[in-house]
Amino acid sequence: MIFDKSKTLFERACRIIPGGVNSPVRFFQPYPFFVDSGNGSRIFTKEGNTLIDYCMGYGAVFLGHSNQEIALEVKNQIDKGSLFCIPTEKEIELAELCNKIIPSAEMVRITNTGAEATMHAIRLARAYTRKTKIIKFDGGYHGAFDYVLNKAGSGASELEHTDGILDESVRKTITIPYNNIEALESAIKKDKESGDSDIACVIIEPVMANSGLILPEKDYLNQIRKITKQNDIVLIFDEVVTGFRLALGGASEFFGIKSDITTFAKALGNGHPISLIAGKKEIMSQLAPSGKVYQASTFAGNPISVTASLKTLRILSENKDIIYPQVGKTCDRLVNGIKDVAHDKGIELTINSIGSMFQAFFTKRPVNSYNDVKTSSITKFSELFKGLLDNGTFIPPSQFETCFISTSHNEEDIEKTIESFENALTRVKEI
Ligand SMILES: Cc1ncc(COP(=O)(O)O)c(C=O)c1O
Repeated sequence: MIFDKSKTLFERACRIIPGGVNSPVRFFQPYPFFVDSGNGSRIFTKEGNTLIDYCMGYGAVFLGHSNQEIALEVKNQIDKGSLFCIPTEKEIELAELCNKIIPSAEMVRITNTGAEATMHAIRLARAYTRKTKIIKFDGGYHGAFDYVLNKAGSGASELEHTDGILDESVRKTITIPYNNIEALESAIKKDKESGDSDIACVIIEPVMANSGLILPEKDYLNQIRKITKQNDIVLIFDEVVTGFRLALGGASEFFGIKSDITTFAKALGNGHPISLIAGKKEIMSQLAPSGKVYQASTFAGNPISVTASLKTLRILSENKDIIYPQVGKTCDRLVNGIKDVAHDKGIELTINSIGSMFQAFFTKRPVNSYNDVKTSSITKFSELFKGLLDNGTFIPPSQFETCFISTSHNEEDIEKTIESFENALTRVKEI
């Protein structure tokens, strides 16, 4: 595929935007393509190339690009005004709907981005427990702010270290391997033995989606729930990716576990900037102005994002018995197709998948942790990415991301994608 206009645009972008992109994960070698528009499962580049999209706004666009039901409501709201910074009834409607959908959402605060939600969730946990340390997992990503960038996944996995972060905030963050309950027990024990007992929260992506895709082993999340409860540690489920995607009630509903605080973004707004902190009333009511945990934003609960989110959640609620089985089936069909192609070519490929998410790793061992992901051949993954792009399929450019299916992906897309994998894997075999 030819991306000549994108090349020129990228050169222009580099002169004025650091690295030519507004978020590092959008860059890939030699330069990213520039998008013109999207529709359903497809995106159209500036050159007029059509690509089947499995990035889908890094999982945000669950109901397809340019979803007309949502667009119509958003257009109507734009005519009425975009921002008042005074409450609107729709904010209550959205909070009430979330309370109905999410098992643990006794109270809800609307925010704008995933990072904003997780940052304030951690602040809430610290205030509630009067403790200071946090535990996160190797390869877990919770946003680009100071105390969660140690051993972070996604684009941050490419940097050994992020400059500009205070040592003091890093020291408060303990990182441990995922799917290893002994590591959690021993971190808590070590903290107790040091005389501190100072761990405020455990923050976890219930399904890790920023180190490729890693699924929790049987009973792992239940064990975490039990141990955090026993030790008065707040459990934060970061459901920025899994929320409203894995099931209507996210991973909490899927695995039947109630966290103390849960954060949401991405699929919540089908591509509009909106996020949520949800949780127990006694924790959430600490937020100002009812409590002393300050959290504020000009754009929080803005009518455009709230309108998009309300429509998104209404569509998902009304059609949940069709949508979730359907995307799961589509994903299984694609994953099985890719596995067959890899097997026929004698390529060692491990694919993890759950619901509407999947990722392929060029390794023969099971991938259950960040260290397992690192055994995958990045060279082969890059070749796969390039091969797929040349064949009209766009997946996130990094091994440390996840591929996403939307409700718009249909049988024809899947057939074409398997064909793309067939061609791309032939290229991989040649290197
Ligand atoms: C699990 C998780 N948490 C938090 C974030 C941060 O969200 P945002 O990029 O909207 O700040 C992300 C982003 O990819 C994420 O995947």
